Amino acid sequence: MRDPASIRRLYGRSKGRPLRASQAALIERLYPAIAVPEEGPLSASALFGHDLPLHFEIGFGAGEHLAGRADMLPDHGFIGCEPFLNGVVGALQHVRDKHLTNVRLHMGDALGVLERLPDASLAFVYLLHPDPWPKARHEKRRMVNPGPLDMIAAKLRPGGEFRLGTDDPTYCRWAMMVMGARRDFEWLAETPADFLTRPGGWPETRYEAKARREGHQVWYFRYRRV
Ligand SMILES: C[S@@+](CC[C@H](N)C(=O)[O-])C[C@H]1O[C@@H](n2cnc3c(N)ncnc32)[C@H](O)[C@@H]1O
Repeated sequence: MRDPASIRRLYGRSKGRPLRASQAALIERLYPAIAVPEEGPLSASALFGHDLPLHFEIGFGAGEHLAGRADMLPDHGFIGCEPFLNGVVGALQHVRDKHLTNVRLHMGDALGVLERLPDASLAFVYLLHPDPWPKARHEKRRMVNPGPLDMIAAKLRPGGEFRLGTDDPTYCRWAMMVMGARRDFEWLAETPADFLTRPGGWPETRYEAKARREGHQVWYFRYRRV
């Protein structure tokens, strides 16, 4: 069982601007219809009514990537987790506007949902612009660490893919070091262009767009579960 205090530390803030009436209505009506059940084991059939390839996004922000991928792959099921209320509202707006029926959301910690999925059940896991926790004394709070990565590895099926994006140079170096030491993931890069340019089928997130506007390099890592 994960310590709730440590889970809260991973999140940062969970509520920002007050919601407009139309946004509050999305939380009251659409969210319950597509929310991941709060308890019990999870599976593709339990969430979507039948077996299909499952994708899982950790910290989807305002949901641009999650909704973009779900729109691209209507026969796949997408689970997105994000504790930030205004971000969940953003994702709900995308779900409504794109008429997506293949998305399930959880407003809260991703790892608590991930651990309820069967081992080897996921085709893709996405971690885009995770909170950098730049100070060395906070590096244990980074999502790219043995605990979360062991769980991601367990839940990905062999051949499944873990995608990680960041514009933070410290996180980039950290991720290359931590991922490079693992035998259960193979880095799918043959040339620098493979991690310096956004691969196809990788919709841009809000954080990525902001990073680019500010002139930052963005790194795109794709790892295959061995
Ligand atoms: C820097 S933002 C990036 C958001 C989005 N991925 C993007 O690229 O625009 C990091 C996000 O991770 C979320 N987050 C942090 N810890 C989390 C956790 N344990 N489970 C789910 N989301 C988490 C935060 O709430 C925040 O929205």
